[in-house]
Amino acid sequence: MTSKRRLFVTTALPYANGPFHTGHIMEYIQADTWVRFQRMQGNEVHFVGADDAHGAPIMIAAEKAGKTPQQFVADIAAGRAQYLDGFHIRFDNWHNTDGAENHQLAQDIYRALRKNGLIAVREIEQFYDPVKGMFLPDRYIKGQCPKCGAADQYGDACEVCGAVYAPTELKHPYSALSGATPELRKSEHYFFQLSSDRCADFLRDWTQAANAHGQPHLQTEVLNKVREWFATDEHGHGGLADWDISRDAPYFGIEIPDAPGKYFYVWLDAPIGYLASLKNHFDKGQAAQHWHAPSRTTQTFEQFVADPVVEQVHFIGKDIVYFHTLFWPAMLHFSGRKTPSQINVHGFVTVGGEKMSKSRGTGISPLKYLALGLNPEWLRYYLAAKLTARVDDVDFTPDDFVARVNSDLIGKYVNIASRAAKFISQSFDGRLGYSGPTADLNDAARALADDVAAAFEAREYARALREIMADADRINTAFDAAQPWVLAKDEARRAELQDACSRALAGFWRLSVLLTPVLPALTARVARELFGLDRDFVWSDATALPLHVAPYQHLMQRIDPKQLDKLFEAEPAAAAAKPTPSSAANGKPMTSAAPTPAAQDAFITIDDFAKIDLRIARIENAEAVEGSTKLLRLTLDVGETTADGQPRLRNVFSGISSAYKPADLTGKLTVLVANLAPRKMKFGVSEGMVLAASSADETAEPGLYILEPHPGAKPGMRVR
Ligand code: 2FM
Ligand code: ZN
Repeated sequence: MTSKRRLFVTTALPYANGPFHTGHIMEYIQADTWVRFQRMQGNEVHFVGADDAHGAPIMIAAEKAGKTPQQFVADIAAGRAQYLDGFHIRFDNWHNTDGAENHQLAQDIYRALRKNGLIAVREIEQFYDPVKGMFLPDRYIKGQCPKCGAADQYGDACEVCGAVYAPTELKHPYSALSGATPELRKSEHYFFQLSSDRCADFLRDWTQAANAHGQPHLQTEVLNKVREWFATDEHGHGGLADWDISRDAPYFGIEIPDAPGKYFYVWLDAPIGYLASLKNHFDKGQAAQHWHAPSRTTQTFEQFVADPVVEQVHFIGKDIVYFHTLFWPAMLHFSGRKTPSQINVHGFVTVGGEKMSKSRGTGISPLKYLALGLNPEWLRYYLAAKLTARVDDVDFTPDDFVARVNSDLIGKYVNIASRAAKFISQSFDGRLGYSGPTADLNDAARALADDVAAAFEAREYARALREIMADADRINTAFDAAQPWVLAKDEARRAELQDACSRALAGFWRLSVLLTPVLPALTARVARELFGLDRDFVWSDATALPLHVAPYQHLMQRIDPKQLDKLFEAEPAAAAAKPTPSSAANGKPMTSAAPTPAAQDAFITIDDFAKIDLRIARIENAEAVEGSTKLLRLTLDVGETTADGQPRLRNVFSGISSAYKPADLTGKLTVLVANLAPRKMKFGVSEGMVLAASSADETAEPGLYILEPHPGAKPGMRVR
């Protein structure tokens, strides 16, 4: 047996400006499964995460929420545990990139890079928003990707082709804050000289090389992508460009040493946050509990990360490959640190083959999943059954989810225990007994455990689960062939019955061991409650034979497809953080719900806004609605005519009767969302929605105020 491996494992640090979505959860499940597998092998693992706290979007979101950025980030961080615990994702430490460790490490790494002659200072022209009066952060400039031409790409990286560039390279730029065309203004910036021969030579080697343990640093597909980034044309153009690592105040970030008013760009300090979270873990004295050799308890954080035997493994999504395969290894190497051992890249989660979208109701909310009582291990199993070591997207299809979980986990796996344990409890007082030699069982288990181990190690989880389920099929077939229900009726065949059931349960034990990285909670119960172990399974258990089984206890429910229907149902109006067209057309006015901007949707583009057709409307008539205490029926003139030239009036139900008497409204002008899909309500069809203001906390501060334009506005005028 080779000596135990020592691993430092991370997942990408999520921006601290929104809750986790299913993409985060998938990455954590992928990494957590790998980590659990490594631990079952007896390897030492330190698995850390952190919130990515810095950057302009978080600064702007905090300001909007009336909080300091630190408080804003802390509030988001407080919500993390329910997701992680809920899906059995067990990080050893969770920190944030604004911690003291990260400030120190980022400044140290920067100083080392500067000393190494790889920092340049240059005056650059930068986009400035003349309406907002500030330099625009990259994410607030949008335009066409200079490499692939995709529209509406952010100023730092293209989500379509993955290219990373300066915002000034975008074609047809516009400010995402104001929609204005930005102006170029001058400012001094700090650069990491990635284009230097030293960097380029190092990275060309590093990206193609294998680590000290013989595995390549990068997956083949990732390496192919990276090669494109190195490529230059016949004029020597293209290739790696220097990386702008500074941002001007005001900025929520880490100050650049000896550069007043300048901060590190968030992507400089974010990966350093991996080290910072690990250091925090060490400083808390918690790391030692994962060490195997007591002699190592004296190793400091710096000794650990510099130790050549330690493997540093990062799990990330395909959208942040450039940062992790070029900037990050170069930063580490040229600051005198060890580089990562593996960068493991995965694809996105799609639903029914499409990108998840809240508005189309195709997103899966992880918290809703848990709140509905759906078993977290169903999702762990399903995602694992689709995950490979490739960068392909992972598709969640509701029908497939139900079929896969019910057929594999219940039909094939759990059923073995429920069927076989019954006979052993009834007729043998829980004692297992094998007639004849059991070497075949051990040999089969060893071969399978080795194959499955190789698959988990290589992150080929789909293959691991296929092999496990093929074994479950064999176990079920053998059990059925033995016809235990027939044997049970014949006293003379008791030994055969015990043997058939014991072999099935030995199979169930083996399957449970091998499924432990994916189904940690279920298999912990199997180990403890069914087989009476006083610990969870370890990998070497796979070849052992159980000798006793407790009476079968219910282990796992089948999925009822109705539960999934609920998962994809639109949120009810009151629960939605932001008013949605359906909630608004439900008779509720659009109100100023408390802003809770999610990661990427804190802002919309001017094009998004332009999709909403806002019109001035005259309230020709307002009346109470029989049978409703909330609604008023409004008859509105929006300047429209019918095909034969008659004025066309709209009927709109609005939930404003607590604030207005019909007579107060008649003849007034207001603003209507005119292109909202008509909605059939109990009282008739509502053809739009009038806008009204209200407090975020209506119980503390009641009141509802419909909008009214200044004099001169006419029905039908566009509001924009
Ligand atoms: O893309 C993101 O969500 C970033 N917050 C990931 C950072 S990963 C690491 F570098 F911290
Ligand atoms: Zn592109």
